[in-house]
Amino acid sequence: MPQTNVKKSGDQRTKSICFFNNKGGVGKTTLVANLAAELSLNHGCNVLVIDADPQCNLTQYVLPDEEFLTIYGSVDPQTIYSVIHPLSTGKGYRTNLPILKSKNFGFDIIIGDPRLALKEDLLAQDWRDAKAGGIRGLRTTLVFHNVIEQTQQYDYIFFDMGPSLGAINRAILLAVDYFLVPMSIDIFSSWALKNIGEAVKVWEKDLEFGMKNSEDPTELPQLISKKLRFLGYVTQQHKERREKEGTRIVEAYNHISKQLPAVVSKNLSYFYPKSLNPHIGEIKHLASLAPKSQTLHQPMINVSALGSYTLMRKQAREIYSALALRFLENLSVTEAERTESQ
Ligand SMILES: Nc1ncnc2c1ncn2[C@@H]1O[C@H](COP(=O)(O)OP(=O)(O)OP(=O)(O)O)[C@@H](O)[C@H]1O
Ligand SMILES: [Mg+2]
Repeated sequence: MPQTNVKKSGDQRTKSICFFNNKGGVGKTTLVANLAAELSLNHGCNVLVIDADPQCNLTQYVLPDEEFLTIYGSVDPQTIYSVIHPLSTGKGYRTNLPILKSKNFGFDIIIGDPRLALKEDLLAQDWRDAKAGGIRGLRTTLVFHNVIEQTQQYDYIFFDMGPSLGAINRAILLAVDYFLVPMSIDIFSSWALKNIGEAVKVWEKDLEFGMKNSEDPTELPQLISKKLRFLGYVTQQHKERREKEGTRIVEAYNHISKQLPAVVSKNLSYFYPKSLNPHIGEIKHLASLAPKSQTLHQPMINVSALGSYTLMRKQAREIYSALALRFLENLSVTEAERTESQ
């Protein structure tokens, strides 16, 4: 993958968005990779994707096998871990970020690293210091904020995250402009909406308190005229089944699906304007197209396999094209509200 030198496509400010649900396996990584590809390849957007999940599924999806082996077989692979590690050795923020370009997906990427999990402790310990106004703790907590400040040449910065409400994800949620929630239609997935809302409100207050009481605010990245906003949710259709249990599953699905707008409004209305329609769209279950796109390291809209894949690829194109338009629409609604309230 070549190194990159991108420029923003428009003159609007860079928007950072994390894709988060603390229920696992709901399609976060698949959505990040395919929506970012659609925006990059078909909408002329410059997108940076950051794989901040120690599972590294996004990186494995995007990197062709040979490149994957070359990079991770090298002595010191340059990854998201290399961005955070200098902080724990007292070297401060890293300035030359390790950004690669994905030819197939069209976006730039900071690749993931299982060693990122080792930094969970650092971020957790430094969070305690941050809340008390300690400069070291605040600097560590604001590491992703610094990364965003350094990548203002992009239109959008996407974060793929693991499914926990731990210290790494806290630092991301406190750094970005928006969170978007990929959901499967099940009870735990909707409980997760409540968890996110509650956790973020407390963290924002704690960070604000720490910043106000910091020993030397000039030492810190410029903060925070912004608050985290909710951009919307994307539902993932369940796999249709023909067996007997299918009817029961469909009934449960329809029931939860109907309740979802009220659950979102109850738990997250604090984070979005009334004029927003938070349901960005639904992703059909695309059966074998998803694993095929993983094997070929190609986005679903461009999977080169033939046969039944041709029809599924057409469906994927329709789905992701509609999603991208609704995503951009929700950004423009929430950005307008943000500008008004400033
Ligand atoms: N639209 C789809 N059609 C068919 N399969 C899909 C679709 N979206 C995702 N999948 C499959 O569902 C599984 C889980 O998806 P994914 O890895 O994106 O979830 P995740 O929320 O990122 O998981 P984790 O919480 O582990 O990070 C994957 O095997 C993926 O291929
Ligand atoms: Mg994932």
